[in-house]
Parts: sequence; structure tokens; C-alpha cells
Amino acid sequence: MEKIRCLVSAGPTREYFDPVRFISNPSSGKMGVEIAKAARGFGWETTLILGPTSLEKPEGIEVFDVVSADDMLNRALALFGECDILIMTAAVSDMRPKKKSKAKVKKESLNMAVEFEPTPDILRELSKIRKNQILVGFAAETNDVKSYARGKLASKNLDAIAANDVSKSGSGFAADLNEISLIFKDGREIDLGKDSKSRLAKKLIEILAAEFFPQAGKK
Ligand code: CTP
Repeated sequence: MEKIRCLVSAGPTREYFDPVRFISNPSSGKMGVEIAKAARGFGWETTLILGPTSLEKPEGIEVFDVVSADDMLNRALALFGECDILIMTAAVSDMRPKKKSKAKVKKESLNMAVEFEPTPDILRELSKIRKNQILVGFAAETNDVKSYARGKLASKNLDAIAANDVSKSGSGFAADLNEISLIFKDGREIDLGKDSKSRLAKKLIEILAAEFFPQAGKK
């Protein structure tokens, strides 16, 4: 069988409201970058769409830098047709300011309300145009982790979702440890436990490979 082609998104997005200020979130991109490295280590041809982070670019992986949700969507649309599996770990900013000022806004004017609008839901858009691609989402939650994750799995029409508890100190956003359960469309659930992001990434890729590409094996 040909090499499995894997597209991973990672990191936060930034939505600027003037040239020096933006809305974002504390995602470091670590989990997604570890997943991209694990996919490549498993022998998959791996491409990474990466929001703004301070991480080093992983070797042997083609990396496309993006800033906003729109940039990420456009890059994903351009690459989606050429992938067998998409793993969407990016913490896409859900809102963006309606207007972006070309000049820096003076602080006296900053207290006026900034109006927001939703950003595109990238996974939802891609799931509408999918052909044979496997879609895997990530749900970062602070409470009712699995039930919210199941809701997203169904509403975004995914094949699997990694439910990620970010409420505990030392795990989740920007930490080195994480705690993940993988939930499949048919309701099965695999707890990967609490572990380093790099070990969890390896376990995740092995499970996804066995589940979705059993005949391909490890290259
Ligand atoms: N996602 C996306 N586009 C967005 C928001 C999220 O593609 N605009 C993807 C994320 O990359 C992740 C999944 O959807 O794989 C779930 O993201 P999450 O932020 O947990 O959920 P939301 O759908 O944004 O819902 P909420 O913020 O209300 O929990």
C-alpha cells in the first residue's frame, strides 16, 4: 500500500484587531507537533499547518505557518484533497473582532466595546466536502469532558475525537503532560491515560493506524 498521507493542524490562531493586538488562547502547539512527529515516525507522509508558536519546526515534516482562522481554513482547504487522515489539534480562536484597524488604536479609545463575530469552523467545513478522508478532532474541555467531546464528534461528523481534560494543573494547554481519551463514531472509547505529550502522541497514532489503516502497517 502507498504511504498514508497525514495532515495535522496545531497551535492557536490569532485574530488581530489592530497591528499590535490580538485575541488568542494559551495553546502552545506542543500536542499537535508531537502528533505530527509521531505520524512521521510511524512512516506516514506528514504535513503540518501551524499557528503562531515558539516551538522548533519538526524535521522531515512540511510545515505551513498560518496566523488566523481564515488562513488556517484556506491552507487546510488547499491540502485536504491530498490527505488520507486529518488530525485537527489546533485551538482555533472561536471569535474575531468584526473590524481590524490599520493603525494602532490609542488606549483612550480601547475601552469602547470591540464587536466580535464567529470564525469559520474548519473541521465542520472540511467534513462537508470530505471524500474518503478520516477526520479526527480534539476537544479541550474543563468539565463534562466526554459528553462534550461526544457532542462534537456527532455534530462535526468526525470518525474519532480525542477528549482532552484541560482542567487539571500540569496537564492540557502549554503543559508537558496531557490526559486523553479517544472516542470513536460507534461509541467505543479508549483511555490513553495521563502521560507525556510525546508518548500520548505515539499511542494515538498507533491506535488510529490499527483502526483506520490496518492493512498499511508501519513503514
Ligand atoms: N475547530 C475548528 N474550527 C473552529 C473551532 C474548532 O476546526 N473554529 C476544531 C478544533 O481544532 C477541534 C474541534 O474543532 O478539533 C473541537 O474544538 P473545540 O475548541 O474543543 O470546540 P468548539 O467547536 O470550538 O466548541 P467550544 O469552543 O464551544 O467548546
